[in-house]
Amino acid sequence: MQWAGFHRKWLTLRVFVLGGTGLIGTAVVRELIGRGHQLFGLARSRASAARLDHIGVTSFPGDIRSPEPWLARLPPLDAVIHMACDFSTDMGAIDRHLLDRLLPALAAQDGRPRFIYTGGCWLFGATGDAIASEATPLHPLPAFAWMVPQLHRVLASPGVDGIVIHPAMVYAGEGGVFDRFARAAAEGKAIPVVESEAVRWPLVHAADLAQLYALALERGIPGESYIGAAIEGLPIGRIARAFARHYPTGHEAPEIVTADAIATELGEWARGYALDQRLSGAKAMRELGWTPRHLDPEGEILFGGPPKGADTK
Ligand SMILES: NC(=O)c1ccc[n+]([C@@H]2O[C@H](COP(=O)([O-])OP(=O)(O)OC[C@H]3O[C@@H](n4cnc5c(N)ncnc54)[C@H](OP(=O)(O)O)[C@@H]3O)[C@@H](O)[C@H]2O)c1
Repeated sequence: MQWAGFHRKWLTLRVFVLGGTGLIGTAVVRELIGRGHQLFGLARSRASAARLDHIGVTSFPGDIRSPEPWLARLPPLDAVIHMACDFSTDMGAIDRHLLDRLLPALAAQDGRPRFIYTGGCWLFGATGDAIASEATPLHPLPAFAWMVPQLHRVLASPGVDGIVIHPAMVYAGEGGVFDRFARAAAEGKAIPVVESEAVRWPLVHAADLAQLYALALERGIPGESYIGAAIEGLPIGRIARAFARHYPTGHEAPEIVTADAIATELGEWARGYALDQRLSGAKAMRELGWTPRHLDPEGEILFGGPPKGADTK
């Protein structure tokens, strides 16, 4: 279906999601189904297919590593949202091969499908006190440098209406980027913080980020990028200490872990946890009407729940 202009909220869009069972994808799928859209989702395992089917997404067996078989069976689509990544050392090559096949397949569809590509805050590098916006030149973490040509490719692709979303660090309750903190706290251990308590992370709750994806789908401007940061930058020691107090662990001071140690444990990509960043979500708020509701993660940890009226997904 070809659409023009804005405010297509009343339309039911046929949307194919990649990564619909992930941290970001699960929230996005819930939001889009709640807004009445028709969802299809790639599933690389039976467990992933069952999770998608359970929430009303028609699952498509397939893997982003080998897109040819499932691309041959794509239904007519209004949009694709790409939120899949396996964080392996060959994730760049996997994504390049995927876009090599996916972009021409979408261009061959009737109409001009919208393609929402997921970038990330780590593409902006360490900003220090400066607040990065969509106009700030990218300075990617080396492990994610492959994403930069990919997103330029999406934005410039003649066959799709490309849009990029750069999520801040994503949390959901005690999950997402808070998962390691919460697990250590629950076990009564000191909370591991990479490099320094003063490192600032831009943050967004998964439910708020999902609203941004929906708005980008329904009214985003092709060729534009939007940063999904609800909180510009919060010193991570405050989050760690909030978990330590909430449980309580008896070890309020976090355990400082080096970036080298976290990279050895999780992979080079995990050096991003050491980036001191401030990012602005003002463009998405101003141009798309994005209204994040989770603005006090520290309070949510300490007092055990979201603010009144905020989504709990
Ligand atoms: N989380 C953050 O704080 C954050 C911040 C900024 C940017 N991002 C970016 O957002 C994207 C998604 O992040 P996330 O945190 O949501 O990741 P995640 O929770 O690990 O989810 C990854 C998703 O990709 C799917 N997937 C992985 N490998 C696949 C393959 N070979 N074939 C098909 N599907 C595959 C997974 O499916 P299964 O169910 O089968 O595992 C899952 O649905 C990544 O590109 C990440 O860099 C994340």
